[in-house]
Amino acid sequence: MNSTLPPDLNPQHLPQHIAVIMDGNGRWATSRRLPRIAGHRQGAKTLKELLRCCKDWGISALTAYAFSTENWRRPTEEVDFLMLLFERLLRRELAQMHQEGVRISFIGDLSVLPKSLQAEIERSSAQTRNNQAIHFTVAVNYGSRNEIMRACRQVAELVQRGELTVEEVNESLVEKHLYTANTSEPDLLIRTSGEMRLSNFLLWQMAYTEMYFTDILWPDFNRAAFHQALLSYQGRDRRFGQVKASLSA
Ligand code: IPE
Ligand code: IPE
Ligand code: MG
Repeated sequence: MNSTLPPDLNPQHLPQHIAVIMDGNGRWATSRRLPRIAGHRQGAKTLKELLRCCKDWGISALTAYAFSTENWRRPTEEVDFLMLLFERLLRRELAQMHQEGVRISFIGDLSVLPKSLQAEIERSSAQTRNNQAIHFTVAVNYGSRNEIMRACRQVAELVQRGELTVEEVNESLVEKHLYTANTSEPDLLIRTSGEMRLSNFLLWQMAYTEMYFTDILWPDFNRAAFHQALLSYQGRDRRFGQVKASLSA
């Protein structure tokens, strides 16, 4: 498919940071009488394509929800498969992503992930740290409530140690203690598979994010579907609480 931006999209008005809740892998597989894991395998291909498309079209950051703090409740075989899939993907795709200038980061409580996966995460983040083409963030064992609670604890400790006064606790300080410190907030959230909820994803960061929901199942989310999401985004008026959309928005 064409790697240039479709002519009906305005390059000056693209979302700079896109977040995706990649949902519907299981249903995609089940509808084909395949095991759920086949849906996850196909979903990984979709993500790879979307990352490339974002890079080609000049979007500077993509954040993908890969595994939530609640997903541990799934059958062990599915959880084990997902962990193995993440590890394999990193091992297999790192060289090419690095070559294409992708900077990879991970958000979530990574400390409880399998050690071998942690090692791949470490390696890929370190190797791609200075890349500039696109910032690709993967949320693994991520939950917003856990993230905000952790930030509260860190701030409380600073106050307890006398390194900070209560008056110094403000929004930007809280933000510095989130996993997403030093990154921009998403401009656009895309969730596939017809579910219209956030499922504990980036609750703080998405206070003013535009939301786009589609019935398409994640493994079927292709460039044409992404194009539709961007067209919808470009038709919106982001007011940020004001009466008229400001020029900077
Ligand atoms: C999203 O697809 C992938 C993960 C949560 C890892 P699902 O596995 O949730 O697919 P459905 O919602 O069951 O169809
Ligand atoms: C959200 O999808 C998590 C990820 C996509 C990783 P879920 O399928 O887990 O969400 P719920 O359970 O439908 O809310
Ligand atoms: Mg789901």
